[in-house]
Amino acid sequence: MDINISEARSKVNARGFLDIEVDPTLDLFREIERLKKEKNAVLLAHYYQEPDIQDVADYIGDSLGLAQQAAKTDADIIVFAGVHFMAETAKILNPHKKVLLPDLKAGCSLADSAPAALFKQFKAKHPDHIVISYINCTAEIKALSDIICTSGNAKQIIESVPADQPIIFAPDKNLGGYLNKITGRNMVLWNGACMVHEIFSLEKIKKLKVRHPHAKLIAHPECEEAILREAEFIGSTTQLLKFAVQDDAKEYIVATETGILHQMQQDAPTKTFIPAPPDNSCACNDCPHMKLNTLEKLYLCMEYETPEITMEEELRVAALKPIERMLEISRKAGLIG
Ligand code: 13P
Ligand code: SF4
Repeated sequence: MDINISEARSKVNARGFLDIEVDPTLDLFREIERLKKEKNAVLLAHYYQEPDIQDVADYIGDSLGLAQQAAKTDADIIVFAGVHFMAETAKILNPHKKVLLPDLKAGCSLADSAPAALFKQFKAKHPDHIVISYINCTAEIKALSDIICTSGNAKQIIESVPADQPIIFAPDKNLGGYLNKITGRNMVLWNGACMVHEIFSLEKIKKLKVRHPHAKLIAHPECEEAILREAEFIGSTTQLLKFAVQDDAKEYIVATETGILHQMQQDAPTKTFIPAPPDNSCACNDCPHMKLNTLEKLYLCMEYETPEITMEEELRVAALKPIERMLEISRKAGLIG
């Protein structure tokens, strides 16, 4: 292994991760398990992570489940195998714990679509509105919000707000449009979207349906309206997984990031899961941000405890309030324990 650790450490912020070679003979699964025990670290992973990372995680979940796990863990270190806003949320909830992210550059196109300065101006144009923000946003946007939601609790969060209270919903216009439809609200939508969920091809999905007439289309609400209109079930990643396991069909076309297929296949081994095709030459739809994390980077961040998420205390406190409101409403609605 390249032992020039201090030089690599000095480049972590620019590079995104500790850029040193990993001994190819190391059993990374065993090493990661060892590090978890030695450091009292918990490894939280999102369903969009590569299968090896999911297999070594202590908990795999959707954004709501992950936030809840982060809120209740008694580990000293939280290792977050996901994207930056997820690790940042864990840090907001745990100022005294070390929060590690395998690659700091694992961002999110949706979070990037709402820069705080522009959002502030947008908010100022709607002074009577409260702000509900999807958790896929930066800490700065969270600090400008009244309540955070995820795709797993958004309907209940919106319904907890009095019907005559106008709402701004940010940053996902597709999720916001879908929520307007199912709640009958008329929320003002920020014009953001997820690069992964926006590029599914309705035409290709329809062709797939001809080849698989009994397959059910299930979709994440970040997908465009045209896809959602055709879907037989819409939900967060955890909800899609539960539906796929409990439902009685044998085949599903899955319109979300392909990482979820790993758990679907594990939990329902006799069923067939087909990734919904995007409008390009690929057969499946990977999130380039989520897939920046690798087993090697995960091992390195745990071994050397870098890259670490840090945040100004003032920003953290401001971003914490709307997250706490989300957790409180979710608890009352029986969505989390
Ligand atoms: P959920 O897992 O909460 O459904 O979120 C999906 C997603 O796009 C995360 O980036
Ligand atoms: Fe962001 Fe979309 Fe990737 Fe999720 S799938 S992390 S919303 S870019």
